[in-house]
Parts: sequence; structure tokens; C-alpha cells
Amino acid sequence: MSKLWGGRFTQNTDVMVEEFTSSISFDQRMYAQDIAGSIAHATMLSKCGIIAAEEATAIIDGLTSILADIEAGKFSFEIALEDIHMNIEKRLTERIGTVGGKLHTARSRNDQVALDTHMYLKREIKNIGTLIIQLQQAIVEVAEKHKSVIMPGYTHLQRAQPILFAHHMMAYFFMLSRDFRRLEGVWEGTDLMPLGAGALAGTTFPIDRHFVASKLNFSEIYENSMDAVSDRDYILEFLSCASILMMHLSRISEEIILWSSSEFSFIELDDGHCTGSSIMPQKKNPDVAELVRGKTGRVFGHLMALLTTAKGLPLAYNKDLQEDKEGMFDTIDTLKFSLTVYASMLRNMKVNDKVMDAAVRNDFSNATDMADYLVKKGLPFRQAHEVVGKCVAYCLGHSKWLMDLSLAEFKQFSPLFEADILEAIKVETCVDARNSYGGTSSSGVEREFTIAEQILQKQQTILEIFTKGNI
Ligand code: ARG
Repeated sequence: MSKLWGGRFTQNTDVMVEEFTSSISFDQRMYAQDIAGSIAHATMLSKCGIIAAEEATAIIDGLTSILADIEAGKFSFEIALEDIHMNIEKRLTERIGTVGGKLHTARSRNDQVALDTHMYLKREIKNIGTLIIQLQQAIVEVAEKHKSVIMPGYTHLQRAQPILFAHHMMAYFFMLSRDFRRLEGVWEGTDLMPLGAGALAGTTFPIDRHFVASKLNFSEIYENSMDAVSDRDYILEFLSCASILMMHLSRISEEIILWSSSEFSFIELDDGHCTGSSIMPQKKNPDVAELVRGKTGRVFGHLMALLTTAKGLPLAYNKDLQEDKEGMFDTIDTLKFSLTVYASMLRNMKVNDKVMDAAVRNDFSNATDMADYLVKKGLPFRQAHEVVGKCVAYCLGHSKWLMDLSLAEFKQFSPLFEADILEAIKVETCVDARNSYGGTSSSGVEREFTIAEQILQKQQTILEIFTKGNI
């Protein structure tokens, strides 16, 4: 097949080289952005008198019919045409004749590919933002449904202090709200229009880049043509934010996996979100959570891969930069799938409130409250800590919990203990006494729900900004 750049070549491209250098297998997913960018470019060329109005019309009609063909599955992409840009341009010329060759005036694939990835990423940020909100809503639903369930809170994976299950779940809500906020930053960094940079140095034609930017709903344009075609920092910002988001999902996955084990049995995932074993008939495995935890690795990998690809590149465009897309696409797909499946998994999981309750009653997680009791009676905290530590040691030696001790036994450790000690170290008291701002008390968790509602509303308005003009 003859190449669009074939003029100076006397031999055909080696077939293996065609395959090796081609990106059409993965960049074809940017067809809509490529065509919209070309239509805006052709409109601008005609507005600036660089091509005639009828020529622009022929080009735009041709591009519109190609778009329809691709969407109808009637377009065959050719490896020999290397990438999405040349597949479309070549077909355009076949369809409308040599006037199609005017589309690439004042443009290079270097600024074209940068434009496409900016537009594609903007659209997907909106989709990912939507899915973050849906997962946050699922978390709030689960937390509200089980808002009085008490469980042990852990540090070092050792039972630490009683907490509300809802408080635990809402921690992830707030992490996701910061993921959303980071995504806003990525969107702003991506809302920057590179077209018109040409190959690297700008163009000799009197183009109007601001016109193209406004046609394509970009707020700003790159100030420097070499920057515009060389940098991929917007993708790196996306991959960084995606990595942090996946790290959060991986942590909740780890908890879901632990909690659904027989050892914990704090939750049970529904059958629809688990798989079985081909050999062990009794098994029900939390594959979704495991796979999200596993896929976190590939997203981190994509971030490292692109950082490494970009780090040694001289300005301006180098073919190495073609490596920017697969990791970005895979990250988008991974995030979208993980967020979607997670929301439905959480909504359908059963919370074993009785098991959590039994766990929190049969341990020493009320020990801090016992120390706080003594402090409120005037003992310095360090001494109170020591007294309670001795009580715990006594209990361990006598197979008792703190709640099992008689007042006489309590008094062996400190005369400050009175009959009200049992009320003070009941798990319900322990939870509700933690009503410092951000703490686990019922009123604290109610406040979290109120704030969560406000955050969700604000995020919805930001989604509308993300949506505007997306292709
Ligand atoms: N397929 C290329 C990429 O993804 C498009 C830009 C090619 N530019 C070039 N001068 N070879 O980066």
C-alpha cells in the first residue's frame, strides 16, 4: 500500500516493520476525537482563507461519512496505514479525491495525536468521575444501612478500639472524594489544546489556534509548539491519580478479602460476585476484590512505564511517545471496570453484624476507655495506662474480659474504680464517647453522612463541567 509519506522512499516498508511501528490496533479507539479534531481544523483553514469554503465542506462531509462508517462497523483499519490519523486521511482522499490532501495543511501527526489524546482523556475523566460518584453512593448506602453495627477497629491488624462499621466504610468515601478532586486537577491539565504546533515549530500558514480551541471546547492552548508536541505530563498526572485511586481500591479489597474469610466472617459476598474452585467444592472465592487488588499493579506499572519512556527524550516528538497510549487506555479500562464492579459488589454484600459484635465484645478494645475513665477521675494518663495494662494481664491470666471483672477485682488495681466502670467500658459507650470531630460516635457518623451529601452534590456540578463539549 502506498504511504502518505512515501515520496522520498524507493523501497517498500518491510512488513515486519509495518507491524512493529503501527499503532492502529490500539489508537483506533480515538477515531471520534480524530475526526472531530480534523473537522475543527478544516473549518479553521477555510475561515482563515487557507483552503476554499467548498473544499472545507467536501472534507467535512467526507469525514462525517467516514465517522458513520466506523460507527456502523463498515470501516476496515489497515496496519499498513500505521495509525488512526493516516487510516482516516487516506480513506478521505479515496472518497473525495485529491482535495482530501488539503486537510493536513498546517498540521502534523505530532500535534494531531496530542490533540486526540487530550480529547479522549477529557471524555474519560468525565466517565471515571461518574463512576467514582456511583461507588461513593454505594458506600454511603451500605454505611447507612448498617449504621449502628459496631466492630473492632484495627491497628497493626490487632484489635484496637471499637468503631462503627459505618465509620470504617466512610473512610473510603472520603478517600474517593479526594481521588475525585485530584481528577479535577487532571482535567484542568488536560483542557489545553496542542493543535497548531505543527511538527514542532509552528506553521507558516496564518492559522487561528484559539478558534480551533473554542470549536473543540478547550479553555486554553499550549503557548509553546515544542512543549505541545513533546510533553505527556497530562497523561502522567492521570496515571498518578489513577494509581492513587487503585491503591485505595486495593486497600478496601484487602479488607473485603480478609473480612470474607472464615477467620473473620464479618461479611459475606453474594454468589454473583464470587467464583468457585474447580477442585474444592466448598470454595467461594472473592475474585473481584482479589483482581482489583491485582490490577493495581498494572496501573502502577503504566505510570512507571510512561515516566521511564519520557525521561530521556530530547525535544520534540520521538516515536517513543507512541508508547503513551496503551498504558493510558488500559488504565482507563481498568479503572472503569473496577469502579463499576466494586459498587455492585458492595451493594450486594451481607454484613454479619452479629459476628462483628461478638468480636468487639470478646476482646480488650475497650481498654483505652478504661484508662480514659481513670484519667477523668484525676489520674495522669501514663499511670492510667499502666493500671489498665495490669488489669489486662490479670484478665489474660484468669481467662476473663474487662467486662467480667467484679468491682472488688477492679479496685485491686485502683481505688478510683467505682460501680460506673462497667457502663463506661461498654462498647456502645466507647463508640459514642468518641464524639471528637471526625470520630466514630453515632453523631459523628451522622455528620459524615451530611458532609458526604454536600460533597456528592458538589462533585455532580463538577461532572457537568467535565461533560461540556466532550467528544
Ligand atoms: N502514531 C503516532 C503516535 O501515536 C502518531 C504520531 C506519529 N508521528 C510521526 N512523526 N511518526 O505517536
